[in-house]
Amino acid sequence: MLDSSSGSELICAVFRGFAALDVNIPVVYMNCTNSNYFGNTRDPFAITALGSTFYVITEPRHTIEVYKNMETLSFEEFLVGLMKQTRFPNPEGQALGYFVRDMRHHQLFPGQNLDLLEKAMLNWFNRHLRLPVLQTLCASCTASTSECVIEVPLVKWRSELFTRAGEVAYFGDTLEKIEPNMATTFLEYDDLSWQVLYQYPRIFSSKMHTAMDRIQEIFLRYFEVPQGKRQGDAWFTKAVEDECRALGISEHDMARFMGTVYWVVSTNTRKAAFSLLYHLLCNPSLIPIIREETVPAFEGSTLTDLNYLHNHCPKFEQAWYETLRLSSNSASARVITRDTVIGGRLMRKGSKILVPYRLLHHNEAVFGGELERFRPERFEGRVNALTRGPSWRPFGGGKTMCPGHFVAKRETAIFVAMVLRRFDVAMAGARAVLELDLGKPVLGLADRKESQDLSMRITPRKFED
Ligand code: HEM
Repeated sequence: MLDSSSGSELICAVFRGFAALDVNIPVVYMNCTNSNYFGNTRDPFAITALGSTFYVITEPRHTIEVYKNMETLSFEEFLVGLMKQTRFPNPEGQALGYFVRDMRHHQLFPGQNLDLLEKAMLNWFNRHLRLPVLQTLCASCTASTSECVIEVPLVKWRSELFTRAGEVAYFGDTLEKIEPNMATTFLEYDDLSWQVLYQYPRIFSSKMHTAMDRIQEIFLRYFEVPQGKRQGDAWFTKAVEDECRALGISEHDMARFMGTVYWVVSTNTRKAAFSLLYHLLCNPSLIPIIREETVPAFEGSTLTDLNYLHNHCPKFEQAWYETLRLSSNSASARVITRDTVIGGRLMRKGSKILVPYRLLHHNEAVFGGELERFRPERFEGRVNALTRGPSWRPFGGGKTMCPGHFVAKRETAIFVAMVLRRFDVAMAGARAVLELDLGKPVLGLADRKESQDLSMRITPRKFED
């Protein structure tokens, strides 16, 4: 058992700076996977910094205790603090997540609404993953080396594409008509959104706030368009709007809320898609294997059999899980509302509990060796055992588990399978190793370090089948 006075000085030193800002999700300890600081006991340990105590849970069995405990561990208090930052009013102090949770599930859990959302994304990628369209769509970041070869910066490219696809699936084409550069503004915000988690004062985060305000303005204009005249928005978007209007919530506040919807739709999935493509580019021997496996899902260049893609491509699925395992970098957070015992340790009211996913996903006893390497085969024949156990938390757990995990997997699979089917892809220039930015707080996946990118060469494929 450790506290700040024993072996965890390293962590506390980094921690202190953030605690001053009342950090809700510190991520700094997550690099200590194999650290001897904890004697690898996996007992809960406490870190105290400037009067705040955080209990850190790394033993899979203890995470179950945390997620099951709805009585004395609260996610709401954490969320309400966060919502204040985004200035959604929430007058009764009710967590917004609860307010719309049922509607989200209705949209995002398997069923007709999810299928429609997926279809919208499929159609969007189908229309845009073509060389001439890409040359125009991503003109600012695309270099043509010849008429049929382009080079794109991978991080920037997938960010634009994914954000636009998510936008259209949720909000139809209205936002694009109002502001064709909505995705770019969103990305400016998203890249700085860690400042929300650190609760940076506005004076130090004006760029992030300017982008956030701009997104709100665009949504205000979106709500000026009568619902009947908007084409293609998702069931959820309309349902939330109707509910908010019935409750007398102002358009100003609805616009702020829709900004957060736009954010959750794109922020993690774009990183997942990038990481998966990046790992495939770094392990090119996997590309023909996945191509071969996904052939039956296609007719020519058109993806026609989604059921096949999602349920009969085990190697592809293993690559997805390995990508999540390596990129996860957040923590479930709970506020302790009454003294509570977890893993045999008494935890005091008023403190916070953190379940850092990265430590769970870097447990050699569960996932085997070479934990820093991309080795999808560690999931071979063990997908259910590994992804349904308490050591698997890329989407959190319990009542607050991410409702977007089905759509994130489907959207990423559609995008990557289509890219591999339609194009030959390779790194352009010298092979670049991109590092994850594990120091920035995120609600989900880590991104690559700022300003790191690599060029990907895209050449249309010719195929007969
Ligand atoms: C690979 C992609 C994604 C990852 C890794 C991810 C991860 C997460 C994580 C870690 C949480 C916090 C869970 C907790 O604290 O217990 C979360 C919450 C959430 N995610 Fe995701 N997410 C992804 C994609 C999505 C998508 C595509 C959507 C929506 C379309 C979405 C919607 C949400 C919502 C609404 C919450 C809050 C849940 C609540 O409080 O009830 N996520 N996500």
